[in-house]
Amino acid sequence: MEILHVSAECYPMAKAGGLADVVGALPKYQNRLGHFAKVIMPMHRTKFLYENNWEVAHKGSFPMDDRNIEFTIIKEATNKLGFDLYCVDINGLLDREKIYGHEDDAERFLAFQIAVCEWISKWEHRLDILHVHDHHAALLPFLIQHCHQYQHISYIRTILTIHNAQYQGWMGWHNAALMPSWNTWQWGLLDWNKLINPLAAGIKCADAVTTVSPSYMKELQHDANGLETLMAAESYKCRGVLNGIDFEVWNPDTDAYLTHHFNSETFKEGKEANKEKLCDEFGFDKNLPLFIFIGRLVEEKSADMFPAFLEAAFSKYGDQFSFLILGSGDKRIEEILSSFNYKWLGFFNARIQYNETLSHEMYAGADFLFMPSRVEPCGLNQMYAMRYGTVPVVRRIGGLQDTVIDFEDENGFGICFQQVSIVDMLSGIDRGIQLFKDSETLTLCRKRMMAVNNSWDNSAAEYINIYNGLLGLQRKSV
Ligand code: GLC
Repeated sequence: MEILHVSAECYPMAKAGGLADVVGALPKYQNRLGHFAKVIMPMHRTKFLYENNWEVAHKGSFPMDDRNIEFTIIKEATNKLGFDLYCVDINGLLDREKIYGHEDDAERFLAFQIAVCEWISKWEHRLDILHVHDHHAALLPFLIQHCHQYQHISYIRTILTIHNAQYQGWMGWHNAALMPSWNTWQWGLLDWNKLINPLAAGIKCADAVTTVSPSYMKELQHDANGLETLMAAESYKCRGVLNGIDFEVWNPDTDAYLTHHFNSETFKEGKEANKEKLCDEFGFDKNLPLFIFIGRLVEEKSADMFPAFLEAAFSKYGDQFSFLILGSGDKRIEEILSSFNYKWLGFFNARIQYNETLSHEMYAGADFLFMPSRVEPCGLNQMYAMRYGTVPVVRRIGGLQDTVIDFEDENGFGICFQQVSIVDMLSGIDRGIQLFKDSETLTLCRKRMMAVNNSWDNSAAEYINIYNGLLGLQRKSV
């Protein structure tokens, strides 16, 4: 079957978060199952764009408001990612360095999605599945079903995967004028609380909706940033499918970013060597337990709690642990954390950046990965940590709950806590420090977590099952 994934991000072409990792891996695993999966995304100006060869796959144009938008679709020429990667280039609109955060994002992602419709509506063969990811691509099911000029491709089965329902792509109704002509009596499908809400439109119009973990699907029916009732109403076509990770990219035995490789047999020496390198770089004591946080410094990840939490942790456990942070986000949090670099010199460091190499070195060299998330649709970092023998210390929420078992439970290997509170977060540090002293239990935890198979094999097949169900589906006519 032929599957087209549509996304704003795809690793290694452009990455802001876990969405990129998923879209950069899932199609490869689907192809291995004998299908033909490919990806289309906006042509952001990234290093990957300049370092690879591209060929023109399609050229076209469409009217938008009073302008004529010309677009080009380019394709990576060598299939180096294990799937065909296509990018939409629209001069002045999509060809920018930053993926998100532009004033005209609503218009940019709308133009991107119209270009995708234009392209597939010109194909001579039938596309089986249009798999759209998050709100940047979530208008597509509506566009192909309700725009007059795309009626001939409205048969294509669509599936929306929600990686993060906090962001919904809200836009004012004046933007409706930017869309190709559509059945205006269907306006209710676009609307949520007097705004055009692309994520809500995707949930209403897609043939199936998935979230990136089963627990997150349940949570969304109670807490979905305003879409709870919609999620509950559409639950008949919703399912949680746990993300996998790319076991080839994330393999401590072959990881190109590491100087010291290891596997489930050699992790003791291997992790020691990686920890020593990391501690040397940051001036930490390698005999102390090393906790890390990797991710966006935003409220969803509870990063707003970090200043108070770190103050409390260092005052209570003083020189008994080190803490290393890698990430960027909220400017105010970035500033406070950077000021801590001097305060607890030799025990704490915050690297305010995105750094793929350092992140791999941190998973390999750390003892504990700290994830106190408020919201965690799936979370990939805890799975990367597990693969590298680093104990995940997590709040029981979303995908964290579905992937981490507390070491005091049967077959457990991680540390779990319940609430986003300083007390609970401190208990995570406390239990980590204790576990670090008990090397026998720590070794058992590492063995167990490294034996867990979180690769894409299972979930890639689960998506294929869902697609198969959709291909046999009779749609209710609306
Ligand atoms: C988003 C979510 C994260 C998830 C990722 C990939 O970034 O916040 O929990 O793992 O998407 O699906």
